[in-house]
Amino acid sequence: MRKYINENFKHFFHGGDYNPEQWRNYPDVLEEDMRLFKLANCNEMTVGIFSWSVIEPEENVYDFSHLDKAFNDVYAAGGKIILATPSGARPRWLAEKYPEVLQTLSNFERIHFGNRHNHCYTSEIYREKVYNINKRLAERYKDHPALAAWHLSNEYSSVCFCEKCRQAFINWLKDKYKTLDCLNEQWWTTFWSHTYTDWNQIEPPTHKSDRSIHGLNLDWHRFVTHQTTDFMKNEIAAIRSADKKTPTTTNFMGFFYELDYRVLSDELDFISDDVYPSWKNNEKDDIATAKSRAMEYDMMRSFKHQPFMIMESTPSHVNWQPFNKLKRPKMHMLASLQTVAHGSDAVEYFQWRKSRGSAEKFHGAVVDHVGHENTRVFKDVSELGARLKQLDSVVGSFTDAKVGLFFDWSNRWALDDAQGFALRDKKMMPTLSTFYSPLWDAGIDVDIVGCDDDFSKYKLIIAPMCYMVSTELANKIESYVANGGTFVSTYMLGMVNENDLCHLGGLPGAGLSKVFGIWNEEIDTLYPEEHNIVCLNDGEEYKAIDYCELLHTTTAQTLGVYKSDFYEDMPALTVNNYGKGRAYYIGFRDDGSFAEKFIKELLAEVGISSCFDGELPFGVTAHARASDDTIYLFIENHTSKKHCLKTEKSWKTVENHELIEGEFTLNEYEVIVLCGDR
Ligand code: GLA
Ligand code: ZN
Repeated sequence: MRKYINENFKHFFHGGDYNPEQWRNYPDVLEEDMRLFKLANCNEMTVGIFSWSVIEPEENVYDFSHLDKAFNDVYAAGGKIILATPSGARPRWLAEKYPEVLQTLSNFERIHFGNRHNHCYTSEIYREKVYNINKRLAERYKDHPALAAWHLSNEYSSVCFCEKCRQAFINWLKDKYKTLDCLNEQWWTTFWSHTYTDWNQIEPPTHKSDRSIHGLNLDWHRFVTHQTTDFMKNEIAAIRSADKKTPTTTNFMGFFYELDYRVLSDELDFISDDVYPSWKNNEKDDIATAKSRAMEYDMMRSFKHQPFMIMESTPSHVNWQPFNKLKRPKMHMLASLQTVAHGSDAVEYFQWRKSRGSAEKFHGAVVDHVGHENTRVFKDVSELGARLKQLDSVVGSFTDAKVGLFFDWSNRWALDDAQGFALRDKKMMPTLSTFYSPLWDAGIDVDIVGCDDDFSKYKLIIAPMCYMVSTELANKIESYVANGGTFVSTYMLGMVNENDLCHLGGLPGAGLSKVFGIWNEEIDTLYPEEHNIVCLNDGEEYKAIDYCELLHTTTAQTLGVYKSDFYEDMPALTVNNYGKGRAYYIGFRDDGSFAEKFIKELLAEVGISSCFDGELPFGVTAHARASDDTIYLFIENHTSKKHCLKTEKSWKTVENHELIEGEFTLNEYEVIVLCGDR
């Protein structure tokens, strides 16, 4: 079934952050914006993100005139508005009068006014002020025909260490653990004599306080997510007090470290993401970038298993990288349609027009300081807009992935905090990429799954470095495999429980030894310059780097052994038939070459094939979206070469209904979108 970002607007959104408040003294510019808006084939503007000081210049004094004008102008130009709540940056008067709204840093000092995304999310007065302005915005614009969605704040990200936040943390802990004894037990505080005797002794972990209690560190991360979500819920409540219907979202930042986006997702109507891939303009790096972005977009889609929105991207370059390179010709189309291939129903920009002054005056925009449409970037944007119109039938379609790749924030936080192994960098994200990469090469659609997802819809689940496993998760894995699923995991599986306490009684813990048919006795961390070799039963040899686990099989079959060191001939790769399914265990980190072979064979074994039936050359991938009766096939060429592809099926191009059968050409950096019967 199709799902839409807004049920009343079943088209791609194409537009972006629009800041008319900066141009109030330039009426010609504002007029020109609307002419250019139509020329750029845009249909949406996102307004209000940083306009609090204009709409409430003094406490309880309001001036909505620039927003009124933007709503009316954009509507008259045939467009929609996404209206932001202004909490991402507050006016000066607010901070002056109520300093508690300002963020306190991890040295326990409060910042001065300035910059943005730096609030105390606990402050009652900040919540009240945000509630008030949001409610007024909702009351004023809820029935405006241009309003398509609410954009909550901007890139929630601040972490505050003030006394109010500390007290809120303590309350959150009381709610979770009920008694101090229980907290002491779960946090293992007798270690180094850190037992708490009073709730009020608890401080957030900082370089000035205690960072040795891993349960504390982990719970602080979770609390920051909780408190941010709670702040966001206050924003939503304000909107809902007046506007019951318009969908809400907030702009995520990919795999952003500090917030467990799954928790925020539950409160939102649809998901948005800000994406700024660092294209290097060389094929090798850019293919790697494309893969890592593809994984991010898959996660955004997987949060709600429905289309999402690219809320920000740059039409040309950014201004915050060490070297701010231009996007090469064709890259804008490719990078944007790549997001669509993975489930985005919007391509939006930061920013519509380059600001004249301040921090982002040299950040890429649809409209440059020159002010007219005769620029390369403007042309790129309007070409994409025209194409998105032609691809209208794709909107609302879904992705039917048969592979799940496991990623969980608590697991990442706990693993990174673990003192041991390779101390400084556990390389969780590169490890995920190692497994994602061959799936991308093979043109396989992947969902990124977490602990609460329904596993049963996947034929294959891959869970690299799944260090934190609760009994609940272990049971879920067990029944997934027992019922016929294929589950792949790696070194470090199930070492700790959900509070970062080590599982006792053997690894993988929480009963997973039985599912995998192995016992992992020790883990050897290699020096960066070292490696071992894993010999597979078929005679092939692969490099093992960083980690080699010393495994014993109980019921599993050994598929590969180490070639050297004192654990020569011990199992390195195993598979266990369990119930109706199979559980694979990879005891070593490979440099990528093993994963390529392994994934390829595994896909054949479990019967998963690409949505495209022909060969995909290196750097070319295929992804599908579907409706009940149609499959939309995106073939992306991330190389500088033309390729000849072949299909046994009969397709049509979505845009021109041109028949595609047998051999066809895919030009350099081209994306073609085909459709066929599902
Ligand atoms: C973020 C912000 C925008 C802008 C861009 C610049 O995504 O949300 O306001 O600063 O970065 O790339
Ligand atoms: Zn605070």
